[in-house]
Amino acid sequence: MNERLTIAVIEGTRREKRLSIHAAKFVAEIGRTMPDVDIIFVDPKDFTFPDDGNGTEGKDPAYTGIVAKADAFFIVTPEYNHSFPGSLKRMLDSEYDNYFRKPVALAGVSNGGWGGTRAIENLLPVLRSLGLLTAQLTSYFPRVQDIFDEQGNIKDEQRDKYTRMVTNEWHELIWLAASLKWGRDNLPPPSYE
Ligand SMILES: Cc1cc2nc3c(=O)[nH]c(=O)nc-3n(C[C@H](O)[C@H](O)[C@H](O)COP(=O)(O)O)c2cc1C
Repeated sequence: MNERLTIAVIEGTRREKRLSIHAAKFVAEIGRTMPDVDIIFVDPKDFTFPDDGNGTEGKDPAYTGIVAKADAFFIVTPEYNHSFPGSLKRMLDSEYDNYFRKPVALAGVSNGGWGGTRAIENLLPVLRSLGLLTAQLTSYFPRVQDIFDEQGNIKDEQRDKYTRMVTNEWHELIWLAASLKWGRDNLPPPSYE
């Protein structure tokens, strides 16, 4: 099972003073320690989507290239008004076929005590409708301002807890990514009558 995998870590918001970027970078940093995995970090600030909608009119070619290449996704999203940010929805909506039969892991971020749980729950049906398959484990970063310092480094007293949580989720995502990659490469697509 040592074929290399490409996994995109997606930060969910463009907000100028976003703190979830620290959690996303931490998730990517742990991903880079996993054997046989190449990480692409996706920051919504780096993309421009011309119009709403999917299909050719709403795409950013750079994002299309990443999604086509990725075997799996790890989305890190803040919670905005009990849901996920519009910038994440805009990115997700710009593609369709390139997501099919690929797994996705999730992490939620908030400055209160819930860690983005409502954003995660609201994201699940969107991912399913795109043909993505979700991991069972989820990582939560409640009170994110107490987890990372102002430079974005994880605080020493938090490191073990969050490293363990995120590492377990990476293990599940990589298992799913390898399994589904084998399926995409070796099995005919499901036939719908
Ligand atoms: C427009 C907006 C709506 C928000 N709504 C919620 C919310 O419903 N629940 C919550 O726990 N935090 C909410 N927050 C606070 C975020 O949890 C907080 O900003 C945290 O740092 C993660 O988001 P960030 O990456 O934008 O910083 C909201 C923040 C913004 C900017």
